[in-house]
Amino acid sequence: MKFGYFDDRNREYVITRPDTPLPWINYLGCQEYFGIISNTAGGYSFYRDARLRRLTRYRYNNAPWDCGGRYIYLRDEESGSFWSPSWQPTRHAAEDYSCRHGMGYTTIGSKFSGIEAHTRYFVPLDENLEIWQLTVTNRRATPARVSVFASIEFCLWDAQDDATNFQRNYNIGEVEVVDGVIYHKTEYRERRNHFAFFACSEPTVGFDTARDAFLGPYRGWDNPASVAAGQLTNSIAHGWAPIGAHQVKLDLAAGETRQIVFVLGYQENPVDRKFDPPGTQTINKTLAKPTIAKYLGQKEADAAFERLRAHWDKLLGIFQVDTPDVHTNRMVNIWNAYQCMATFNMSRSASSFESGIGRGLGFRDSNQDLLGFVHMVPARARERILDLASTQLDTGGAYHQYQPLTKRGNNDIGGGFNDDPHWLILGVAAYIKETGDWSILDEPVPYDNKPGTEEPLYEHLHRSFRYTLECLGPHGLPLIGRADWNDCLNLNCFSDTPGNSFQTTTNRDGKVAESVFIAGLFVHASHELAAIASRHGHADDAKCFLTAADRMEQTIKKDGWDGDWFLRAYDSFGEKIGSKEREEGKIFIESNGFCVLAGIGLDDGRAAKALAAVREHLATKHGLVVHQPAYTRYYLHLGEISSYPPGYKENAGVFCHVNPWVMIGETRLGHGDEAYDYYLRINPSAREEISEVHRCEPYVYAQMIAGKDAPTFGEAKNSWLTGTAAWNYYAIAQWILGVRPTYDGLEIAPVIPAGWQGFTATRIFRGVTYKIAIERKGAGNNVALTVDGAAMKGNIVHPPADGRKDVSISAVLS
Ligand code: GLC
Ligand code: GLC
Repeated sequence: MKFGYFDDRNREYVITRPDTPLPWINYLGCQEYFGIISNTAGGYSFYRDARLRRLTRYRYNNAPWDCGGRYIYLRDEESGSFWSPSWQPTRHAAEDYSCRHGMGYTTIGSKFSGIEAHTRYFVPLDENLEIWQLTVTNRRATPARVSVFASIEFCLWDAQDDATNFQRNYNIGEVEVVDGVIYHKTEYRERRNHFAFFACSEPTVGFDTARDAFLGPYRGWDNPASVAAGQLTNSIAHGWAPIGAHQVKLDLAAGETRQIVFVLGYQENPVDRKFDPPGTQTINKTLAKPTIAKYLGQKEADAAFERLRAHWDKLLGIFQVDTPDVHTNRMVNIWNAYQCMATFNMSRSASSFESGIGRGLGFRDSNQDLLGFVHMVPARARERILDLASTQLDTGGAYHQYQPLTKRGNNDIGGGFNDDPHWLILGVAAYIKETGDWSILDEPVPYDNKPGTEEPLYEHLHRSFRYTLECLGPHGLPLIGRADWNDCLNLNCFSDTPGNSFQTTTNRDGKVAESVFIAGLFVHASHELAAIASRHGHADDAKCFLTAADRMEQTIKKDGWDGDWFLRAYDSFGEKIGSKEREEGKIFIESNGFCVLAGIGLDDGRAAKALAAVREHLATKHGLVVHQPAYTRYYLHLGEISSYPPGYKENAGVFCHVNPWVMIGETRLGHGDEAYDYYLRINPSAREEISEVHRCEPYVYAQMIAGKDAPTFGEAKNSWLTGTAAWNYYAIAQWILGVRPTYDGLEIAPVIPAGWQGFTATRIFRGVTYKIAIERKGAGNNVALTVDGAAMKGNIVHPPADGRKDVSISAVLS
């Protein structure tokens, strides 16, 4: 069952009924000011950091779902009835409801009692504000008098404190209302130099800034007293809960359309010019006023929207494909790339499942996110890499996360994940392959942000490499530390105390438990590092990286192989995990996927065997599960993985993030059909028809789909912010379609299904536009290239020596 449809031409998903299984959200903003917005106008906004600089309030885990938003009410002045065109919060049965989620904007509207209303929400480029463009049309045959109310609830900046520290917070709320603009200035009197504003393009007939006055005692957002009464009360908030609400009256002739613009924004003032006049407590509005005035103009708002459109045309234009499969096309051309931007911007901080409080930017996560993002805005990828590397410790180890506002690493969600350092190598490799910008390796970067410790980025990568060699276990495999990619395989935790965080508790010295997954990652990262070193004048280093990779590969083959597949780990008693010898958790996806991706066992049949075992034991119709059999009880020595009921999350759920490792592995074996089959099983668009089962948005990947051991098999959770976005994009674009940036040029190496006759693609790479046509003439994956009419040896196309900006490539597969 579907709840809408894809409008590919407009790059939109159109939701046609508001009662989706879960709120289906979109992101507003792509630089510093952000918001999430659901299909019924729920959501919130923040500046840069969802925890520390939250502008508006939202209630997670509320009933109904999705409480708090950018709510507009219309009231028929004749009848006194009122409703919200976005369905929530009043939930009237409106006609023609639609929500169009597009690239950085969302338009929601409906018709009720002959009045049609749509609101387009977006964040203009280069501004710290959002625009709500409301269009109201009187579809009646008679004139109509309506009041329009627009409302938001302010958050007192620190979202964590806002949700907990009521003894203070009920006292500090402050606002100003000047010339019809509502300014939220809680804590501005003391150490903050920022405030929020909420403005309206039309003369207003009333406002409210005190929530109690707006809603009335014991009433909710579905039934605000002052909307029901038809008149806002001009309340001024003193403490309690400051809000912003405007009222505009419209007289509409039959058929008449009117537009109103609301602007909600964030402004910082220089610390020494906070007040005007100086010495008072009044906000200095010199900087804010012109911006507000500008975007309240209908024309400016439209122009800003067009700029946003053009921005996305450009970003998405970098890679476009036309394949025989609509799901591939729309995910690659539109939604998967778009999701990669969201994960780059948000890491794992703010979504329907991430409260914006818990997690900042993850070291592991953000590096992987680059795989799907780097081609879009390489300059921002570069900046992100340097930020991440600056938090690296001088041991080569890493903090697991940092807060975007401070850019300092912290251990709030744990540290000592021994896979972390290697993702930096993969992030840097992806950046150099895309851009050819080798200078990044020479950038001086500190350790742990300590001035004076700067070394070239290349040295950081070297330390990442050494970190593993200094942390080897009894078999010569890498010690797992807190955990590896699988946060929940906590082999040194041994927690028997309820409420202990698995991510921060350690009860073993960590000298025994080893990870075969990290071993595979190490081999892969060391190959990349060697390729980088040899091209960057470090031939000796390159040799040393390759020797170490080789040795690790031998160790994996000797002590990391279970006979038919790769082992997953050794626990802290030295017992095997992911082995036939176990009752539960006999086979895992991560080590098998990643070792094959790294090329291990391609030469001796192990890779083929391992992926055949993955197919036999882990493949389900909803994707590949993490392991089998699921853990049916809590194992002290395994930690969080066994804390989840069977089939959920890391305990044998379909973790969509790791499925592409197997897809890539299959392409390395030359298995286009298998790779593509796995690709389609979790492709959200291909799952649109079963939205009542899948439940999350059909236009973006979710982190997890419940596995076959779960009663809700096939149900997705944790949509949007997941490494799934980047890895699937990377797998389909670079390994299945095989349009792959390398250090030396653009490689063309498709491993597509046997049934595909070919496809075409456009790829802008290092300033050159490549038009690529792939044609199948035989069943295999051999590639014969013709570049601008001339047959070519090999399959890496080097940047044109004569500076041509357009190159056409045709490739024959046989
Ligand atoms: C979450 C984390 C990611 C981790 C994965 C598996 O997605 O963000 O870092 O690798 O879970 O545990
Ligand atoms: C929990 C989740 C896991 C996530 C981790 C980090 O363990 O199960 O997916 O990676 O938290 O916050």
